[in-house]
Amino acid sequence: MGLYEVIHGRRDVRAEFTGAPVGADVLERVLRAAHAAPSVGLSQPWDFVIVRDRETRSAFREHVREQRRRFAESLDGGRAGTFEKIKIEGILEATLGVVVTYDPGRGAPAVLGRHTIADAGLYSVCLAIQNLWLAATSEGLGVGWVSFYEEGFLAGLLGIPDGIRPVAWLCVGPVSHLETVPDLERHGWRRRRPLERAVHHGRWGERLR
Ligand SMILES: Cc1cc2nc3c(=O)[nH]c(=O)nc-3n(C[C@H](O)[C@H](O)[C@H](O)COP(=O)(O)O)c2cc1C
Repeated sequence: MGLYEVIHGRRDVRAEFTGAPVGADVLERVLRAAHAAPSVGLSQPWDFVIVRDRETRSAFREHVREQRRRFAESLDGGRAGTFEKIKIEGILEATLGVVVTYDPGRGAPAVLGRHTIADAGLYSVCLAIQNLWLAATSEGLGVGWVSFYEEGFLAGLLGIPDGIRPVAWLCVGPVSHLETVPDLERHGWRRRRPLERAVHHGRWGERLR
């Protein structure tokens, strides 16, 4: 697949995991791609916890289900009805989980480029995640980002040390297919914005005529 094909073909996957095995060589290539991401001050503040154990995944899924219930309770009638139909995780259906963490202490205190923007460390982790996501797509794997969790719960479940934040639980594995339209759009939750609305020329709000 060419780069643009991978970028536009990538999808957040929940329902299409087959549960088939992922070869060690494939997983290694995908993790190497993540680890090749740019990072503020070359801090490489990420780590990857590979979770295969079913009991651990079940415990996490239970927690996610509870967070889903909480979110659903905060919605009004129409929105709650739309949300009900949306699957938000494939934790057990995927072959494995990859939990990506952020260590703000890595390379500290003088992280070059982070002195005015503390979030630059988190941005770096997100770039590693995006690299992983694109590499997985080009390997024929699906990835689904799960963020319906309390950080303390996931840190406790996986023995992540104090001060290190779990940024994402990624469901990873072979898929039957990738949808061409995001799930949230297909289910009427939200539509993608056209690029023209996101581009400003010279000053905020200025558009080309
Ligand atoms: C930071 C972040 C957190 C997300 N959390 C969830 C989640 O908890 N559950 C879920 O189903 N999708 C989650 N997603 C996936 C988004 O819903 C998805 O990327 C978006 O709807 C666009 O669809 P696409 O990735 O298929 O293009 C998350 C994505 C990001 C970037």
